Amino acid sequence: MDSRDRVVICCSPADSDLEMGQLLSTRRRSARILVVDDNPDVVLLMRELLASRGYEAVAVGHADEADAEIRKRPPDLILLDVVMPGKSGYELCREIKENPATRLIPVVLITGLSDREDKLKGIEAGADDFLNKPIFPEELFARVKSLLKLKEFTDELETAESVLCTLGLSVEARDPYTEGHCERLSRYASDLGRHLRLDEASLVALRRGGYLHDLGKIAVPDEILKKGTDLTPDEWIIMKQHPITGETICKPLKSLRLVLPIIRSHHEHPNGSGYPDGLRKGEIPLLPRVLQVVDVYDALRTARPYKPALGHEMAVAVMRDEGRAGLWDADLVDEFFTMLEQQREVA
Ligand SMILES: [Fe+2]
Repeated sequence: MDSRDRVVICCSPADSDLEMGQLLSTRRRSARILVVDDNPDVVLLMRELLASRGYEAVAVGHADEADAEIRKRPPDLILLDVVMPGKSGYELCREIKENPATRLIPVVLITGLSDREDKLKGIEAGADDFLNKPIFPEELFARVKSLLKLKEFTDELETAESVLCTLGLSVEARDPYTEGHCERLSRYASDLGRHLRLDEASLVALRRGGYLHDLGKIAVPDEILKKGTDLTPDEWIIMKQHPITGETICKPLKSLRLVLPIIRSHHEHPNGSGYPDGLRKGEIPLLPRVLQVVDVYDALRTARPYKPALGHEMAVAVMRDEGRAGLWDADLVDEFFTMLEQQREVA
């Protein structure tokens, strides 16, 4: 056994730590920690240490087993050995952090190598923290405690976001003719964003924007919402408030920062005739313009009480005409149809 594999228990935890540990284990009895290490002695010790604090510790000896375990039931925290046969800890960490479904799980890289370069490699792979072997129980418990707390916060944030997205869907559900609209919009908008080579954060914002753009309609009465286009001037005033209302609801969540312009500006037109701010071409941010193009296409292709569904070719003609008239971003309209053509070729 080399120094990399030695786990040293050097002293007993202080009383205050014990109390905190007991409190923690009571509060977070269900916290599940995945230990990935090819050394059975290390695995055994880690499991015992974590179990002594009331955590549920699951251990595997190989990156592939870790993959399967994460898919089966995502853990709250992963303690990951850097040097393993097959896929290294760095590689597994990078995969976990690149996957939207697992990227919020904190990963602690465990290494015997205290080299600066290895740490940099770990940071580049997206590791949240490091533990050096030999492992000191106090250090392990402190890292675990603080990262689980962080996970608790991100889980709460995720919950807040999913509540808002569910609210967005409930707005959609008030109008049976728009069933599935949010989901289609979310998919089309992120597809178009990817086609435009936008960064990952923008793609996530477009996906969320599909569900959240009309959230403000929650404050629009049913009789106005279901009327379609034939609104009185007073009803239009209420309807035109929905981008502002939606933005106000989502503003407190920092994680929705990039979604706010989508919510606020998805009814602006390059010719300045849109609402709520009457922005003109060049003033409207890119993400709302992207969402708007796919929103219009989906609306044209779907039957509503006041209009039939258009075929694809007719929708293309209408949108190109309206793009030239300054209602939509004409270049994005072209990009969208190019993307649909490419998707059809692939299919
Ligand atoms: Fe809207």
